[in-house]
Amino acid sequence: MESAGNQDVSLNGKGILLGITGGIAAYKAAEFCRLLVLAGADVRVVMTEAACRFVAPLTFQALSGKPVLTSIWSDAVGDGMPHIQAAREADLIVVAPATADFLARLAQGQADDLLSTLCLARSGPLAVAPAMNRAMWLAAATARNLAQVAADGVHVLGPASGVQACGDVGLGRMLEPSELLAGVTALFGPQPLAGRRVLVTAGPTFEPIDPVRGLTNRSSGRMGYAVAAAAREAGAEVCLVSGPTCLPTPAGVRRIDVETAGEMHAAVLAELPADVFVAVAAVADYRPENAAAQKLKKDGSGRMLTLVPNPDILAEVAARPDAPFCVGFAAETERLAEHAEAKRRNKKLPLLVGNLAQETFGRETAELVLFDDAGAHPLPRADKAAQARALVAHIVAHLND
Ligand code: C5P
Repeated sequence: MESAGNQDVSLNGKGILLGITGGIAAYKAAEFCRLLVLAGADVRVVMTEAACRFVAPLTFQALSGKPVLTSIWSDAVGDGMPHIQAAREADLIVVAPATADFLARLAQGQADDLLSTLCLARSGPLAVAPAMNRAMWLAAATARNLAQVAADGVHVLGPASGVQACGDVGLGRMLEPSELLAGVTALFGPQPLAGRRVLVTAGPTFEPIDPVRGLTNRSSGRMGYAVAAAAREAGAEVCLVSGPTCLPTPAGVRRIDVETAGEMHAAVLAELPADVFVAVAAVADYRPENAAAQKLKKDGSGRMLTLVPNPDILAEVAARPDAPFCVGFAAETERLAEHAEAKRRNKKLPLLVGNLAQETFGRETAELVLFDDAGAHPLPRADKAAQARALVAHIVAHLND
């Protein structure tokens, strides 16, 4: 077997318990296990009975160099109490893939097999990498379970979107092994924002025209949620003020749901003071002056809609005497540097993140440029989690200036 040798040794000596549950993405866990070992981790694999139907334990035994634990009654570990011992030894438990069923059992605190028992008996951190069919991911029960698991402090890595084994396309795919490795490594990283409060806005706002119609902006919320997750990883206390999205709350992040720009404005002001404010939300610049109380009926004629401006949340926060370190986002369709620098000047921001809307919207990856007093800093295309970590590192550098 390859040894860590001159490879990435970012996880040197870390005891990682890799849990594998019964989904087709279990085959990707083999590569993830190999990457963990190459990064210097001491990996112990635990498989559920269903996982063993997808990939043989022998595969993981060969990759981790240790017998694989599959049963609570196994005597493979010394004192006959493998759940207590393995949970005690691990610096981190990471379950990849984590099926919908496993997340449900985790949310309930069930302990009906070795892996769920280990998760319940642990004293250290736990991360899960959900992997399931798109419809299962979108099910209300899964969303409830995810929210519970995140509220319990479990780190949720992914899922990603794309073509699935069943032929469906959408959210639910397990992150790629290299992305999982980056996520796990970040959990052990330095915590340069420990003791700082970070406030993030994300997603679109929705401005009602009548009870069933409204004005909104295109925004999935993914970048803002990634920024909140990266700030949390860096040790900050994070509050995420979110417009309507269908994303799970990042682990350890407090989320406040809002719909309109007015509600977002009020929620942000109520959360101040903060050390850092990152305004990622695509806030509607205007709202209908009067939302109709009843559904408007079509009568074949044209209609005038009177719009009034919404408050500029970021500009207002940046102008306060107790202003946090403020970061703006600008999605432009052309002349990025010119528009981004103008926006930075007008809103008096130390840092602004620019991107070309057509290159980023609806995509898993982003190509960003950071603008500050020192000039433009391009961040080459990468997944949004990696970009968010790079942005947080840049913010940390500014705070330490
Ligand atoms: O002016 P524009 O909408 O392009 O500015 C983008 C930046 O300002 C983003 O960071 C966005 O979150 C923030 N913004 C805001 N309130 C508004 C409009 C934009 O906080 N009403």
